[in-house]
Amino acid sequence: MRKTARYRKLISSFAILALLAGCGEKGDLDATVSPGAQTSPDASVTSGEDKTDKDVSPGEKDPGQDEATPSIPAAQGLTYSGKDLSQIAPLPQKEELVANDFLLYFVNCASAASSSLDGFGLFQSVADQPFGTDKGSGRDWGYLSAEYMQAQGDVESADRKAAKWGIAEDAVYGEDTGYRYYFELPAGNYEVTCGFYDPFSPRNIDISAEGKEVISGQKILKFKETEFSFETEVTDGELDLFVYNAKRGQDAMQNPELSYIIVRAVPEYDGEMLAMMLEASGVSEEELKEYRTVTVAKYKESVAAAKKVADSDSASEGEIREAYENLKKAFEGLEKKMVYNAFTPGKTWQDTDGNKIQAHGGQVQKLTVLDKQTGEPVEKWWWVGEDKTKGYRGGICAYSSFDLYNWEFEGVVMRNVTSREELDTDEYFKELYAGYTKEQLDNVYRCINDSTSVIERPKMIHNEKTGQYLLWFHADGPTETSDANYAAASAGLAVSETPYGPFRFVDRYRLNTCPEDQEDMYPQSKGMARDMNLFVDDDGTAYIIYSSEENLTIYISKLNDTYDYLCTDPEKAVYGKDFIRLYPGAQREAPAIIKREGKYYLMTSGATGWAPNQARYWVADEIFGEWVDMGDPCIGDDKRTTFDSQSTCIFLADDGTVIYMGDRWNSDNLGDSRYIWLPVLFDDEGKMSISWQDSWTLKNP
Ligand code: GAL
Repeated sequence: MRKTARYRKLISSFAILALLAGCGEKGDLDATVSPGAQTSPDASVTSGEDKTDKDVSPGEKDPGQDEATPSIPAAQGLTYSGKDLSQIAPLPQKEELVANDFLLYFVNCASAASSSLDGFGLFQSVADQPFGTDKGSGRDWGYLSAEYMQAQGDVESADRKAAKWGIAEDAVYGEDTGYRYYFELPAGNYEVTCGFYDPFSPRNIDISAEGKEVISGQKILKFKETEFSFETEVTDGELDLFVYNAKRGQDAMQNPELSYIIVRAVPEYDGEMLAMMLEASGVSEEELKEYRTVTVAKYKESVAAAKKVADSDSASEGEIREAYENLKKAFEGLEKKMVYNAFTPGKTWQDTDGNKIQAHGGQVQKLTVLDKQTGEPVEKWWWVGEDKTKGYRGGICAYSSFDLYNWEFEGVVMRNVTSREELDTDEYFKELYAGYTKEQLDNVYRCINDSTSVIERPKMIHNEKTGQYLLWFHADGPTETSDANYAAASAGLAVSETPYGPFRFVDRYRLNTCPEDQEDMYPQSKGMARDMNLFVDDDGTAYIIYSSEENLTIYISKLNDTYDYLCTDPEKAVYGKDFIRLYPGAQREAPAIIKREGKYYLMTSGATGWAPNQARYWVADEIFGEWVDMGDPCIGDDKRTTFDSQSTCIFLADDGTVIYMGDRWNSDNLGDSRYIWLPVLFDDEGKMSISWQDSWTLKNP
C-alpha cells in the first residue's frame, strides 16, 4: 500500500521546501506536441469483452507468446525538448528527498484531477500533462500527444486507478503506437514503476526505457492492479519511456493501456540519510498509543535496529539501506486502532490492542472483577473463547469490556502445553501444577497438549460457595484405542481462583449414558460429550448441556453444588432427576441457552463440521420438563444457514437486548473466523426471532 501522502503529513520535522525554483531555462516546447489530451470518459469502457485468462497471473509471461525480442519502435515526432545536461538542475537536497520518499513523479495518466491520493512527485504540479514545462517545478515532462490516445475512466478522480490511457476505437494502429513519456532528470539511477488497472480483458504489455526493452510481454488482468518496476540509468538529462504491446497486431482487445507512472530517485544510502529517516519517522510514546500494538512493536524494533546501524562506524551501504527501508516500512505500517460504537456482524473485530479477537465458540457474561489499577470491584463483561491464533489447536482466551463493543485482552487464561517436559521445567506450568503426581501431569499433557488435543467451546461459571471460577469445555483428541481427533469426546474442566486465570486443568470426563429402557443412538461409545454449554439457574443449580451419542442426542446434566463434576456419578444417575436426553437422533449441536420470563430457550445447530447450517430452538417451562421444538428462529435467512453462523451463546445485555452470539467459521483460516452477534426479538407469545443487521447498536449504550 502506498502511503506517501500520510507519510509526508507525518513528517513534520522537515519543512518541505518550496519546489526548487529557477532550475535552469525552461525548455521550448516542440511544435509537434499537440495541446491537451482528450479527457472525456470513453463509452467503450463498458463494451469490452472479458476474456479473463485464468491460467496466467498478472505479470506472468503469456505462455503462448513467442520469445523473439520485438524491435522497439522509434519515437515519432518529438524526441527531446532541447535542454542539455548543464541546464538541468541537480536533485534536491537529501532532506527533501527523504521527506518525499524520493518521489520525483507520480503521474496519474490521462487524469485532469487537481490532486492525487498518492501525492505528487517533487518535479510535478499536475496529475498529467502533454510534454512541456511544469509550471510548478520548471522541469520538462509529459506525454507525447498522439491522436489515438484516449483518456478513459474518471479523469476527475484523484485515485491512480480511476483514469488511464487507452486507444481510440477508430485509431489506425501502427507498430509505433503506444504511450511515450519524457521526464527531465539529472544524470543518475532511477526506479520506475508503471501501473495498470482494469484493462477490458487480459493483455500483454511491453515497456522500453532509454531505448532499451525492460519489460516484455507481461500480462495485465482485468480488475487486478499490476505494477512493473525496474531501475534505469539516465545520462542524457531525460528519461524516455515507451509503453506498448508489441503483439497487438490487429486485435483491439490487445490495445496497450496505462494507469500511472512513478519515478523515484535511487539514492546512495549513507549514515546521514539514515539519521534523517530516524528523525523523520519519529513518533512519540503518547502518539504510539493510538496504533495497533503489533504495528508498534514492529516499528520500535525497526527504530532500535536503525539506531544501532546509525551508531556503527562500519555499517555497509547495504546494511544502511536495509535499516532505512525496514524503518520506512514499519513507520508506514503503523496502523490506527479501531474504536467501536456498533456491532458489525461478520466484520473483523479487533481488541483494544488492535489484534483480532480470539474467543471463538465462546460465551459472554457479566462479572464483578477487581479493577487492575484500583483493586476496587467493577462490573465488566467477560468473554471467554477458543484461541485459534495458531489454527486448529490452541488454548482459551479471555477478554473484558465495559460496553460490549470494545474488548480488552485479558490473556490466554488456559494455556495448552507444547511438550511433556514443559510441565516439569516451565515456571508457569510448574507453579500451576505444583502438587500434581507424575500420572496426573501425564494426563494434563495428554488432554491439553498443542499437537493432538482439541479444546473447543469453553464456558465459564463462578461458584459462590467455593469462590472458584470453573471453565468447562469440549475436550477431545485421540485415545489409547483411536487416533481420531474427536475420539475422546469428553467434557474438560479447568479451575482458577480468578477469572483472569491461570486456569489449572483438572481432568476430562465422559458423562451420563442412555438409560437401558431408552433407545441409545450410539451404544458403541458411552457417555460422549462434545459441543457444550453451561447454565446456572436462578436457584444456583448448574447444568451442562452437550451433544452426546455421536452428536445424535443432546443431554442436559446437573452439576454438583461445587460445579466441578456431575451431581451424581453416571452409574447411579437417575433419568429425569440428574439428566435428560433431548430429541434422540435429531443430531443437534452448538447449544446456546437462556432463561427468559420463566421459560428456557435452547438454540442449536445441525452437525456439519465448520460449515453453517439451519438453526433450531426448543422452549421448556422446566429445565427437565418437556422441550417443544419451535423451528428456525432466523427470519430472512434465505440460505438457511443461521446467517452463515453457528450458535455458541445467548445472553442478556444491560439495555434488555438479548444477543445471539454465533461463529462464522473459516475452516481455511480458523483464526480469522468471524463473530456474528445479532439481537434476538421475542413476540407476545414468547417466540424468538433473529434478523440480519449489517450494523446495530444497543438501545442505551
Ligand atoms: C462443529 C463444532 C465445532 C467443531 C467443528 C469441527 O460441528 O460445532 O465446535 O468441533 O465441528 O469440525
